[in-house]
Amino acid sequence: MIRKKLIAGNWKMNKTSSDATALVTELVAEVGRTSDVDIVVCPPFTSLEVVGKAIEGSSIKLGAQNMHHEASGAYTGEISAAMLRAIFTNYVILGHSERRTYFGETDAFINKKVLAALKNQLKPILCVGETLAERESGSTLKVVQTQLEANLEGVSKDLATNVVIAYEPVWAIGTGKVATTEQAQEVHAFIRSLLVKLFGDAIAQKVRILYGGSMKPANAPELLSQKDIDGGLIGGAALEARSFTDLIKSAAAVK
Ligand code: PGA
Repeated sequence: MIRKKLIAGNWKMNKTSSDATALVTELVAEVGRTSDVDIVVCPPFTSLEVVGKAIEGSSIKLGAQNMHHEASGAYTGEISAAMLRAIFTNYVILGHSERRTYFGETDAFINKKVLAALKNQLKPILCVGETLAERESGSTLKVVQTQLEANLEGVSKDLATNVVIAYEPVWAIGTGKVATTEQAQEVHAFIRSLLVKLFGDAIAQKVRILYGGSMKPANAPELLSQKDIDGGLIGGAALEARSFTDLIKSAAAVK
């Protein structure tokens, strides 16, 4: 398999910088030399710099949870891609369902961010996924297709392999309800087929598609052994060193 598994922790609005330092220090000690799985931690903006310093020299990479698409200017409260790059951020979560729902982010707005991230050598972790009502009405694949096509518009083939997709069924996020492996694999395979249409087979086979939504050490081995599930975007279980490192070990154990 050409795709290395990727486990990313989305800390959301949790942890002060001292709490963040304590967690990441444990992670560095436990899994900081891992080479068979890519590991990314995404703390809040206020902890990016201290976490970045703590992971220096380890194999853990730094991710942000959001950014603005403009380079600079009068956008009170926002952070640009260049600011993230200046503190050695490698990844940025974009289009998370919480941003779409609570902050009104549209597909067009998310598309601008994806393009700006790529232009600045940041790897977007682009989140897509359906709500419970959408799943129940049978429109899951349509919803995911609409999001993906709109969010990736204008992405060149050269840069497409820098994109990571996260399939996160909204009804599974923070609810303890995890998608079944069949439900997840079906959508992952569908996303891969869309990537083939957009970028061709060779590129589509290289793009990592993560699952997110109540992934935990107990359900990870089965999810991660699916053909098109290349890792996880982890919320709750990333807030504790033990469960996050167990997830990394699960990913490493998948052959
Ligand atoms: P969860 O969150 O693991 O707590 O469900 C995942 C996410 O929202 O990225």
